Amino acid sequence: MIPLNQNLNALKRSQIRVYTNLARATTGCAMLTIGEPDLDTPEAVKLAAMEAIQNNQTHYAPNQGTPDLRKAIADHETHRGNAVTPEQVLVTIGACQALFTALLGILNPGDELIVPTPGFGLYETIATIAGAKTVPLDVTKTGFQITQEALDAVITPKTKAILINSPCNPTGVIFSKESLAAVKRAVLSRPIFIVCDNVYHSLSYSDCPDLSCDPDLKEQLILCQSFSKPWAMTGWRIGYLTCPDYVMDRLLLLSAATITAVPTFLQQAAITALSTPTAPMREIYRQRRDYVTGRLTAMGLSFPEPEGAFYVFVNIEKYGLDSETFCSRMIREGLLAAVPGSCFGTDGYIRLSYCYSDEELKVGMDRLEAFIATL
Ligand SMILES: Cc1ncc(COP(=O)(O)O)c(C=O)c1O
Repeated sequence: MIPLNQNLNALKRSQIRVYTNLARATTGCAMLTIGEPDLDTPEAVKLAAMEAIQNNQTHYAPNQGTPDLRKAIADHETHRGNAVTPEQVLVTIGACQALFTALLGILNPGDELIVPTPGFGLYETIATIAGAKTVPLDVTKTGFQITQEALDAVITPKTKAILINSPCNPTGVIFSKESLAAVKRAVLSRPIFIVCDNVYHSLSYSDCPDLSCDPDLKEQLILCQSFSKPWAMTGWRIGYLTCPDYVMDRLLLLSAATITAVPTFLQQAAITALSTPTAPMREIYRQRRDYVTGRLTAMGLSFPEPEGAFYVFVNIEKYGLDSETFCSRMIREGLLAAVPGSCFGTDGYIRLSYCYSDEELKVGMDRLEAFIATL
């Protein structure tokens, strides 16, 4: 065999898929594993894409994104407090490519990326491809928030970036003003980037403080954003990043070399999405969150309060099983699938998603209750 890029040897297969596949192979198994909206993309957005195709908007778009969409994104971001120009916007294939472009664009081999943990596994994957090291910042002992002491303990001269995902996958927790102040203090006047993964920001059920709106951090912050979650557009694969001009100068070349550009007609539809309210979908998730957390509390289970996204991270330590054993047994014996906390770097927890109908959530909660009663 001819050796491949050695950084790829360290990549791991997503365990989320492993557990989803095991559940699919188990007859009658219910699933609370999926991290994508079960709702449909708004009609207006679908119509806009169809019209754009009819109008032959089917040619290469500019590498950075169409001027109309970049202007709409810059207006949208500026309106919510992240003052950017259209030149500081790059349209990407979902937040995945935004994160890939951002992290590959800033990490050199040997650099360190600090990730509050539990956290989304893609960050480590990208850092690994870049030959960089992921440094977990364990937040489980500090109420799932970031403290100055914990941050100081992991920052080194090799720290190149801190990843902030709020509301967080897998916990749904929103980082408090104090947590973000600690991050700001740690990076100000240091050559350290903040990468904000804001994909769940508009699915917040309470006020969500946001470093991307802090003018003091403008020169060292990259925002990664997506149309996937707020508008139920996961399959469309469209998102964007915003960053300072000197960063865009290089990231644009990286993105152009990777994808050339995002499909033109999708960009037209994304303009319509930006003016389509997200509050009705958020309200549906909020009601589901209330139902699921109410049931979990009644079962005597504990979890950090989810204030956004569509996940609950449930503590299972009292059962004395590691999260993978717990989830495998729950699939086989309880006919219910969840994602082990180990997939997010934190054992002793499982992630439940509430991107499911009321009936499916009721079945899921009933089965969880029955399963834990057997332990
Ligand atoms: C925290 C987080 N960031 C980024 C993504 C990627 O989203 P997209 O569909 O925009 O690529 C996801 C998807 O689940 C996510 O949970």
